[in-house]
Amino acid sequence: MDEYEDENILTGAVQDLGEVSLEKSLRPQYLSQYIGQQAVKDELSVYIQAAKARSESLDHVLLYGPPGLGKTTLAMVIANEMQVGIKTTSGPAIEKPGDLIALLNELEAGDILFIDEIHRLPTQVEEMLYSAMEDFFVDIVIGQGPTAHPVHFPLPPFTLIGATTRAGMLSAPLRDRFGIVAHMEYYTVSDLEEIVKRTAGIFDTTIVESGAHEIGRRSRGTPRIANRLFKRIRDFAQVADKTAIDREIVDYALKLLHVDSEGLDATDVKLLTTMIEQYHGGPVGISALAANIGEEAETLESMYEPYLMQIGFLQRTPRGRVVAGIAYQHLGFAWSEEE
Ligand SMILES: Nc1ncnc2c1ncn2[C@@H]1O[C@H](COP(=O)(O)OP(=O)(O)O)[C@@H](O)[C@H]1O
Ligand SMILES: [Mg+2]
Repeated sequence: MDEYEDENILTGAVQDLGEVSLEKSLRPQYLSQYIGQQAVKDELSVYIQAAKARSESLDHVLLYGPPGLGKTTLAMVIANEMQVGIKTTSGPAIEKPGDLIALLNELEAGDILFIDEIHRLPTQVEEMLYSAMEDFFVDIVIGQGPTAHPVHFPLPPFTLIGATTRAGMLSAPLRDRFGIVAHMEYYTVSDLEEIVKRTAGIFDTTIVESGAHEIGRRSRGTPRIANRLFKRIRDFAQVADKTAIDREIVDYALKLLHVDSEGLDATDVKLLTTMIEQYHGGPVGISALAANIGEEAETLESMYEPYLMQIGFLQRTPRGRVVAGIAYQHLGFAWSEEE
């Protein structure tokens, strides 16, 4: 089932069918089932109630934050709460303006168009989206040469939900057209613990409190990772003939999965170790670092660095990335301010 999966358990993209169906079965349907992100939920719940009370479409929503924090899930939840239809696509999938028109044409009044990775929209498509979002129309040119003529194409009121891991890569005109901007935060350990317990319930698996806590603690603040680790640990428990997932099997499995005591994976450790051993802990530029450890700079920036910065292991300075003292300690290196 997992043969096509990225070898990296923590950050590999969702690729195989098993994983897709796992994510589907685990997705909360309503805001009340959506764990954590309290600030985002409180705000959205007001806007949803207000829009429904006025029988209007919800204002456009931009969700941003690292991968696996529940952006796609939240888009689905919003559709359920609004009781409207949702069409999902992604930035790179909309290659030309005609593709966008085809999508918009299928929407009914109030429906949601969800565009994942919206920072990767082609420019021409993005520009067409401006009038669609602002005034619900698109102007297109039909025909070529002397017979070419503009056509004004009205649209039903709809809600665009855009998701991105890189808010900084969105153009200002596009960003400004979202009335609601929600910044997704890394989850707390207790939220992740609750997510793991919910997942265990869905899988009909018994898990002890300390086991759920430890998975939560070592999931890099990310529900997708918590669910993946749970799935693997459950396999280990099964083979070890355990009737419940306890702390012992969690520790055993996470060791084999190369998840360290702080939840860092092999790439996190490689990134920090390379910085310490080859760059005296920095500052080092992201492209040099990416080339050195054989990862894409984009991957490091969207998946690895945000969490390492969140836990204070890494700092971004104008001159490049710098490893913090606590990361030296965690990895067992001696650290002195003078280097
Ligand atoms: N708040 C949450 N409560 C419970 N499960 C969640 C929550 N957020 C995300 N998940 C789970 O984590 C997985 C990844 O979420 P997803 O929405 O695909 O993340 P993103 O789109 O931000 O990459 C899904 O399987 C989902 O069920
Ligand atoms: Mg997603």
